[in-house]
Amino acid sequence: MYDARYSTRSHTSAQLGLDATGRTVTLAGWVARRRDHGGLIFIDLRDRAGLTQCVFDPADSGAAFALAEQVRPEWVVSLVGVVRPRPDDAVNAELATGEIEVLVSELTVLNRAKTPPFEIEDGIETDESVRMQWRYLDIRRPEVGRALELRSTITHAFRSALAERGFLEVETPVLTKSTPEGARDYIVPARLQPGRFYALPQSPQLFKQLLMVGGVERYYQIARCFRDEDLRADRQPEFTQVDIEMSFATQDDVMALAEDVLAEVMRAAGVEDFATPLARLTWHEAMDRFGSDRPDLRFGLELVDVSAVVADSGFKVFADVVAGGGVVKCINAKGGASLSRSRIDAVGEVAVEAGAAGMAWIVFGTDGEVRSPIAKFLGEPVIAALRAAAGACDGDLLVFGAGERAQTNEVLGVVRLALADELGIERAGLAPLWVVDFPQFVHDADTDGWTANHHPFTRPFDEDIDKLETDPGAVLSYSYDFVLNGLEVGGGTLRIHDADLQRRVLAVLGHDAAAAQEQFGFLLDALAYGAPPHGGIALGLDRLVMILAGATSIREVIAFPKTSSGVDLMTDAPTEVTTRQLADVHLRLS
Ligand code: AMO
Repeated sequence: MYDARYSTRSHTSAQLGLDATGRTVTLAGWVARRRDHGGLIFIDLRDRAGLTQCVFDPADSGAAFALAEQVRPEWVVSLVGVVRPRPDDAVNAELATGEIEVLVSELTVLNRAKTPPFEIEDGIETDESVRMQWRYLDIRRPEVGRALELRSTITHAFRSALAERGFLEVETPVLTKSTPEGARDYIVPARLQPGRFYALPQSPQLFKQLLMVGGVERYYQIARCFRDEDLRADRQPEFTQVDIEMSFATQDDVMALAEDVLAEVMRAAGVEDFATPLARLTWHEAMDRFGSDRPDLRFGLELVDVSAVVADSGFKVFADVVAGGGVVKCINAKGGASLSRSRIDAVGEVAVEAGAAGMAWIVFGTDGEVRSPIAKFLGEPVIAALRAAAGACDGDLLVFGAGERAQTNEVLGVVRLALADELGIERAGLAPLWVVDFPQFVHDADTDGWTANHHPFTRPFDEDIDKLETDPGAVLSYSYDFVLNGLEVGGGTLRIHDADLQRRVLAVLGHDAAAAQEQFGFLLDALAYGAPPHGGIALGLDRLVMILAGATSIREVIAFPKTSSGVDLMTDAPTEVTTRQLADVHLRLS
């Protein structure tokens, strides 16, 4: 917390206690509240640090009393007064300055304020769009100020933890050539190069790799990234990464560095129980057990494979799926028998939205009765076997997914979260883990081609390199995501440092030799000039701060965020530009 140095004040509004009794002090800030009480006027003076109660008494305050009668909320004032203890019945134990008040002798109005569109206090229910339009007033609210302070603390902790370990902070260009990270680029027309465009970086990926070729060895940057993608609560078009790259390091080295740095950051943020090394799941295990590559481990509800149990059952849908090489899996929603039929149907709709044909279920009533639309097809022995396989008891609900393995996992991953909501499972605390060993490629059904799972510069497992051309889907990569409470907070990989291997991976991704040279020539050239083995990670600063601040959207921890349609409601950006501006950059609107 800051103090009053370098300011016109003698103290901040969080600083004064009984030990200051009798001292003459100068405070400055905003009028949070004014109350008139039995001939006295009380002003709660707010600054970023806190609140101090200031009293105006006609007997002692002179002209200041008359002026105090005029002040309104959010006026900016400075005042001089003497600290005195509050009467016993007026002590406020919740407030740092709750034992004292300042008897004012001088009051200066530094600026007046219009009536704000919402109360400047915590816990208001004002629509977010209104808060964002007047974001500077919103920021004046203590809870928003605290979020920005936490963000600053965390950013600072990253910087010092990385600097201590010999990482150089290096800035990379914002006007650049795009690096494919899977989103659309923001592009900027180049006035001096008619018809050409810069792209804003989706991440500094290639620059940090080139810094490794440049011998920097350990790099970091608090880097702004830009991605034109559909926005959600945890996605903004511009966001911040703590971007890290290191040479001569294994996957375990990068993960150990990230864990050590995160542990320091957590301590700085007041988290005491961040125990390392963190749990690890392979991507396959995460998908099989949780149906997600970013599983929320704050609760169970794991997926159970019951293919063998239903393979020969009388329920043809299940039996056919298993016969066709698919899987049947279920989740035991403990205590789910209490859900009404309509709530179970609502979960079923979630499954359908996620791509399932439907969602079968079995309720084991607390009365011992079995209720299920598929009970009569399954028959009692199979139901008993399912109950055993899923570890279910009376009072539980089993929900099923059936089909191709990957799709079934994904559907049940979504269903798992919906069930946790329906069951009201409390999700408290932090559940960090690593998800590792992602497949190198993802099959694109539309083009029947392959896309990069992380990005095209990710290094495949040494032992899988010979499968690159023959069986790309089976190639795993040196890759690791840092997952916290069901969100992907960081992602990284070891990189390809061999030009020929990089060409082969680009070829699988559909870039023939000429296209690869055209788009990534500078990288391929660099790899041919003694590139060291290297790898790194980028941590999403906004997401991390959001979780640690207990916020539900990253907008809450960004000073000036954009709406889900990419608009800054305060400045109204994006706006139209003049014909002249367009002409300058050689553009005409169609
Ligand atoms: P990746 O694309 O996984 O990796 O991004 C790293 C982290 O950045 C955060 N993030 C976002 N946060 C807010 N809004 C967004 N639109 C957004 N997109 C991503 C996430 C994510 O985990 N160059 C690689 C890193 C590397 O390989 O070193 C990269 O950018 O928290």
